[in-house]
Amino acid sequence: MKKLLTLAAIVFAVAGCSGQNSSEATAPVNVKSLAGDTTVPVTLPAAEMAQYPQKGHAIARNYAQQPPLIPHKADYPITLKRNTCLSCHAWGKAERMHATAIPKSHVIDDNGTLNGRNYSCNQCHVPQASNKQAIVGNGFGE
Ligand code: HEC
Ligand code: HEC
Repeated sequence: MKKLLTLAAIVFAVAGCSGQNSSEATAPVNVKSLAGDTTVPVTLPAAEMAQYPQKGHAIARNYAQQPPLIPHKADYPITLKRNTCLSCHAWGKAERMHATAIPKSHVIDDNGTLNGRNYSCNQCHVPQASNKQAIVGNGFGE
């Protein structure tokens, strides 16, 4: 008898945990958009994809000390742990990857150790892409 009771207790306990009570209706969730009932009047097509030059063709510089433009896509990740730009541009890798090695101005020793100040490459180097969008005017040098 005692065994039977224990068994019954276990069965009830398990049934209690099994989520069988979920048949109780849950209250509907009313999510209200910040825009209220405003409908979207126009949907624009996605912007044209940027077209980057082929790798291997550096873009002519316009003035001395200009950080050269990146002649390829520039979404290679630069994170705290890894700078993927260096997998092609680091000393010792650049020649094999047919890329220009980072210049002496970017390193702190004779082994090509990158100066921490130059870690965020895209802070100075930007990619050049031909886009189909209207070009923004520029009065540099005028
Ligand atoms: C897969 C290899 C590869 C990776 C990764 C890579 N590059 Fe390049 N990069 C090249 C090649 C090849 C060229 C063209 C040859 C040259 O001018 O160095 C080039 C050219 C450049 C140039 C032009 C150099 C010049 O003298 O005009 C810059 C600047 C540059 N890359 C910056 C970057 C930056 C910043 C990153 C990371 C966001 C990066 N690259 C990632 C291969 C790479
Ligand atoms: C603080 C700005 C700055 C940062 C950050 C920076 N660069 Fe530069 N970079 C320059 C300037 C300015 C030049 C051109 C003058 C020179 O060679 O020092 C240059 C030149 C280069 C060149 C051409 C070298 C040559 O011999 O013609 C390459 C390649 C390059 N940088 C890659 C990189 C990569 C890769 C990173 C990130 C690891 C990086 N740079 C970070 C400013 C920067």
